Amino acid sequence: MHAVDIIIKVREHQELTTEEIQFFVHGIADGSIPDYQISAWAMAVLLNGLTSRETTDLTLAMAYSGEILDLTPYVKLAVDKHSTGGVGDKVTLVVEPTVAACGLPVAKISGRGLGFSGGTLDKLESIPGYRTDLSQEEFLTQLKSIGIVLTGQTGSLAPADGKLYALRDVTGTVPSIPLVAASVMGKKIAAGAQAIVLDVKVGNGAFMTNMEDARELSKLMVEIGCLIGRRVTALLSDMNQPLGCAVGNALEVKEALEALHGNGPKDLVAHCLTVAAHMLLLGSKAASLEEGKRMAKEAIQSGRAFEMFRKLVIAQGGDVSYVDHPEKLALAVHIEEVLAEQGGYIAEFHARTVGEVSVEMGAGRAKKGDVIDYSVGLLIHKKVGDRVEAGDLLFTIHARDAVSAQDAKRKVLAGIKLSKEPVQPLPLFYGVIE
Ligand code: URA
Repeated sequence: MHAVDIIIKVREHQELTTEEIQFFVHGIADGSIPDYQISAWAMAVLLNGLTSRETTDLTLAMAYSGEILDLTPYVKLAVDKHSTGGVGDKVTLVVEPTVAACGLPVAKISGRGLGFSGGTLDKLESIPGYRTDLSQEEFLTQLKSIGIVLTGQTGSLAPADGKLYALRDVTGTVPSIPLVAASVMGKKIAAGAQAIVLDVKVGNGAFMTNMEDARELSKLMVEIGCLIGRRVTALLSDMNQPLGCAVGNALEVKEALEALHGNGPKDLVAHCLTVAAHMLLLGSKAASLEEGKRMAKEAIQSGRAFEMFRKLVIAQGGDVSYVDHPEKLALAVHIEEVLAEQGGYIAEFHARTVGEVSVEMGAGRAKKGDVIDYSVGLLIHKKVGDRVEAGDLLFTIHARDAVSAQDAKRKVLAGIKLSKEPVQPLPLFYGVIE
């Protein structure tokens, strides 16, 4: 078999066999297929799609490119959560310790920034020392001892996704239903949790910009999960404006810590409580969503969720003084406030623009292997539906220098629309697929 023939088949809309998919994924994982062929194949998949049979085969091949963890000797039942990627989406940093603090073990393999969307691993690495490359043994031992693991793809856990993900990030091949489904579910299957809640984002700041695609992706991922005996729930959530206030790695960690102290932005807190409640329900810890929300709220208010985050950081080698004193986290050199020039109601705060600007400022990668600047990003102070008056603070730029800030200001302002008439706030969720 030759990689080039497989690329040509996808280019020509011909269906791949299971063996061809396994051969290609194996070649990604062991390095025998070079980056340029992987990238060409990913672009062909993005343009021409795959059938649901091919997508299922791709997902299983990605999962089996490394070890599939069996968590049952370590914990009775573990739960996992994954977002399909958004702007300001620091939900994992809040819900995972919250759910673990409710007594439900959480085992998760996360990803890095992808295109304009931020990644949990990059955010966590803004805490000096935090390791995202746990071995299989470290993963299992930590899950048993503290009930929470938050790590990345490694040579032994979802290795094909690690490589493909890094290439998709910089080759314009992210927004593809089969590639997202295989990437997300491949990691979820490998990490071994029996119950999985998927946060499927829809809107201009998501990879699925319309509801039809978001539903199709959700159904596909739920079906793949069920096929291999996992309980899966997909939530369809809004991503037309940034979630919470902070966008950018260290800024998002600070905001997640505020939320864990019970002081996060309203939309972020409400979003996190709903996701946590679904995790507790699916993991049989709560009898209803209402009970799950109550449990999650109590875990935060009592300080147990924050304490669980500290334990996680310590277990994975991070310097916990940055968690106790978030002011130590990287702070940008140039901070600039942008005020409204006129009054009105916020009709749009374009999430994708905010995400792209944040990546351009250095919070994400333009090329594979680029070094991230943890300090840069944006604080968004207004939500769709808010009334603003001339002189009100719209957003704050955290940049490397004044030139980068000027560019960011111009672009973000172009993504804000004001209306003279009142505007309805955006919903947080659009539905649930089980
Ligand atoms: N998250 C992932 O892990 N993979 C994707 O492709 C998109 C979001």
